[in-house]
Amino acid sequence: MDGDDKYLLKFKGYNFARLFVDINFLKNLDDFETRDDDVFVITYPKSGTIWTQQILSLIYYEGHRNRTEIVNTADRSPFLEYNLHKIDFEKRPSPRLFASHVPYYLAPKGLKNKKAKVIYVSRNPKDVLISYFHFSNMLVTFEASNNIGEFMEKFLDGKVVGSLWFCHESFDHMRGWYEHRHDFNILFMVYEEMKKDLRSSVLKISSFLEKELSEEDLDAVVNQAVFQNMKVDPQANYDSILKNEIGLRTKGHFLRKGTIGDWKHYLTVQQNERFDRVFQRKMKDFPLKFIWEID
Ligand code: A3P
Repeated sequence: MDGDDKYLLKFKGYNFARLFVDINFLKNLDDFETRDDDVFVITYPKSGTIWTQQILSLIYYEGHRNRTEIVNTADRSPFLEYNLHKIDFEKRPSPRLFASHVPYYLAPKGLKNKKAKVIYVSRNPKDVLISYFHFSNMLVTFEASNNIGEFMEKFLDGKVVGSLWFCHESFDHMRGWYEHRHDFNILFMVYEEMKKDLRSSVLKISSFLEKELSEEDLDAVVNQAVFQNMKVDPQANYDSILKNEIGLRTKGHFLRKGTIGDWKHYLTVQQNERFDRVFQRKMKDFPLKFIWEID
């Protein structure tokens, strides 16, 4: 542990949310026993985690699709490192669904041995930044910032939960998972593509999971995974968890806007140019072009 503060707990170079994490669990994370049929949604924060958790839960649980079982997303697909409800992972029946924000180098070694499947979701980091700014100002367990400019500097320095989106030595997120993709059984999804064509995205996910869906089931998954429906679904929107279990500093919702390009409403021309300069410097030799760079 080094350089930690009231909100961040730095472990092996990566910032965890201090108030939710159990340091002893982290110390044993490498040996966390994965199963072949486990599925992990892995993301940098604010990239579409809750959305993909919902899609997975809908794909796996008939009772979720037809609404005969009322179980919260946080319990269907709990966070690996932020085990809010103290679920005994070993006792959970297979197939187990998980969510996580860990960087590739902290993932349990079972994942690196291609035991279990990983779905990695990325999002335009400018929209991540704006979503994250609102989120961390809203929750008492995150450090609030006075304005976007102040938060942007923390984000670009990796002084937030999740550390750096960008590449910086080995302490990065998106790039690390991509460059080490051959070590994992991994599917890369992109928030913007999910937003533009949710149906095809659900099919891509279900085919990766080898879970064939009937047309009727596919309709049910897509319908319950669209933003407007998730926002009003108490099992999917985390409203009660934020309000009653975590604590709100200001009013707001986990499902805030769910749009592409919201950053354009917030970043000044100078802030945007600075962000672009950092992005280009840190990602210049990254082999992929992102959809948001092309569109
Ligand atoms: P915004 O704050 O931009 O609205 P995460 O789950 O990784 O923390 O990501 C949260 C972001 O995903 C929020 O972004 C949230 O609104 C968005 N999101 C959640 N469900 C969504 C859905 N069904 N469709 C589109 N965006 C969704």
